[in-house]
Amino acid sequence: MKAVVAGASGGIGQPLSLLLKACKEVDHLSLYDVVNTPGVTADLSHISSVAKIEGYLPADDGMKKAFTGADIVVIPAGIPRKPGMTRDDLFKINAGIVQGLIQGVADYCPNAYVLVISNPVNSTVPIAAEVLTKAGKFNPKKLFGVTTLDVVRAETFVQSITGARDPAETVIPVIGGHSGETIVPLFSQAKPAVKIPEDKLEELTKRVQFGGDEVVKAKDGAGSATLSMAYAGYRFAERVMQAAKGKTGIVEPTFVYLPGIEGGDAIAKETGCDYFSVPVELGTDGAKKAVNILGSANAYEKKLIEKCVEDLKGNIAKGVEFVKNPP
Ligand code: NAD
Ligand code: LMR
Repeated sequence: MKAVVAGASGGIGQPLSLLLKACKEVDHLSLYDVVNTPGVTADLSHISSVAKIEGYLPADDGMKKAFTGADIVVIPAGIPRKPGMTRDDLFKINAGIVQGLIQGVADYCPNAYVLVISNPVNSTVPIAAEVLTKAGKFNPKKLFGVTTLDVVRAETFVQSITGARDPAETVIPVIGGHSGETIVPLFSQAKPAVKIPEDKLEELTKRVQFGGDEVVKAKDGAGSATLSMAYAGYRFAERVMQAAKGKTGIVEPTFVYLPGIEGGDAIAKETGCDYFSVPVELGTDGAKKAVNILGSANAYEKKLIEKCVEDLKGNIAKGVEFVKNPP
């Protein structure tokens, strides 16, 4: 298994690369960034784990060397938010960065699983899909927007109510998109079931929806979530790799192109959104099946879904337009 981190020298990229270097599923780790990959690679190369490691800058065909033969490409490249910014404010710069990296995927490793972390995810994933489509290389089963941090936050924040020792043992589906009110935690679908007191539900829901702002504010101009994101990105990447190697029963929420996945068409029709984060069963070829849990949402959650869809449609269209009709 050859894994690539594109944006490997950044706040997310470095701890994510560390986790992947230590990961038993990875045989070969390839780091790509526009700066500092020689240093990050030299540092990680002293770790006595299985994965052999290489690092590249853009010069001398660096992207081609980094991407060729990749089985999985994780993309945390791009600028992060500062206080007062929305994720959509990142579009101007990050749209082009993601477009360029996905063109690299199309050119050098079109069969790889592609995990997009760069914000705004609601738009960068449609950009990725359009670039791959233009190149005739789009496989919807292998393109994922990483929304795992929302799931991780929901697990963590609900612990104050469950009192569970291990927060990750409470499985909470988080659906929709990855920004503000497009993030919809379905606490009614928690497993094992959790009874949220009525006066706590709104606060808990908002905390998951705006958890990113909490970190942006605390970092006070020094960026957004990096360490928790590296953990979340690693958790999702590891599960994709485990499923690729034949492990069954892995279901994770992720932002996907629904019409290209079994069971997804019905959800796309129901929401009016071609892209949506839903629990997806992972298999040896990527997304095997989209699980429709929208119908099980309670009345409060159905209202959240309505608002999510309203915002998400515009974010998706903006990404698609960026590639179809370049500015
Ligand atoms: P950062 O600025 O610390 O790191 C970004 C890295 O990307 C830098 O090392 C930079 O050199 C590199 N980069 C820029 N252009 C590149 C290119 N063309 N090719 C390769 N590398 C390039 O930022 P960060 O804190 O690591 O955040 C990265 C992105 O992840 C941001 O867009 C942020 O909003 C997003 N993010 C997403 C989630 C999520 O849940 N999906 C969570 C946190 C952050
Ligand atoms: C997050 O949810 O932490 C990330 O999307 C980064 C951000 O801008 O909030």
